[in-house]
Amino acid sequence: MTITEIRHNADILQDTKQRAEEIYTNSRLQLGIYNIYQGTNMGITHEEGEDDTIFIVYVLEGELHFTSTLESFTLKKDDSVMIYDIVESYFAKAITPCKLLMISSQSNHQKIQETNACFNKLVEVELKDSYTKGHGRRVSTYAVAIALELDPSYDILSLGSAATFHDLGKYYTPIEILQKPGKLTDEEYKIIKQHPIDSYKLLQKTHGEEIANIALQHHERMDGSGYPYGLTKDKICFNARIVAVADVFDALTSNRVYNRQMSFDEAMELMISQKHLYDPIVLNALVRLVKENKLETVDV
Ligand SMILES: [Fe+2]
Repeated sequence: MTITEIRHNADILQDTKQRAEEIYTNSRLQLGIYNIYQGTNMGITHEEGEDDTIFIVYVLEGELHFTSTLESFTLKKDDSVMIYDIVESYFAKAITPCKLLMISSQSNHQKIQETNACFNKLVEVELKDSYTKGHGRRVSTYAVAIALELDPSYDILSLGSAATFHDLGKYYTPIEILQKPGKLTDEEYKIIKQHPIDSYKLLQKTHGEEIANIALQHHERMDGSGYPYGLTKDKICFNARIVAVADVFDALTSNRVYNRQMSFDEAMELMISQKHLYDPIVLNALVRLVKENKLETVDV
């Protein structure tokens, strides 16, 4: 059984002393202090072949929300959690920018540094194209909401990260093309179509094949009219079909250079009128969320 020990207003110095023993008796563990971006996702899972996985985090600044199939809780400044004897996965999300002191296996530290590097790039992408500010975080929130609407125990970690970073490849797209208000020329459209491939290449190195593949396929459409490969139906992975719906929904409901901002209802109606493009199960989940007013707006 997974054990979580949550402490509020922890005495960090006293606790760190006490827990230092645990660190030094296990050389796999590493200690680090990280400033992480709002929206960062972290997965805490049992690692194959390791019986003594332990994860300790102190929140020095900000708010961090944890969910698993068993419980969910939020840590604020000066709170801490120690999770050990891990059986089921935990999903942690930074609700605000956070400063964390983290003690855990090396791979967690590596992942957090790689995620931060991706966020640094994403910030540049979003700065380059001010109309897309916060797009990644909103798409991630919508995609996760759709997945949980379909199945409350849906494994959202890969989906959440892929949705956040799906447009990372726009790092290489020239600013004049991203900000062009008029119709794109064939040549410009060809350059735009390159961005899922570039997202794939960047994410494959940092987040692995599964997440990279979701980003690669986020502009594919069920009828084969998408890009870069014109894949159809079940040739497109399910998570990419979710990101596709969340991505279009956010593009329609935010202020873009090429379209006026629509309400949630207007965007939903437009997407229903083009339903051949989307997975019907995914689109229906979005429709339910909009109709029941369950989709939160995301402040970024
Ligand atoms: Fe895209």
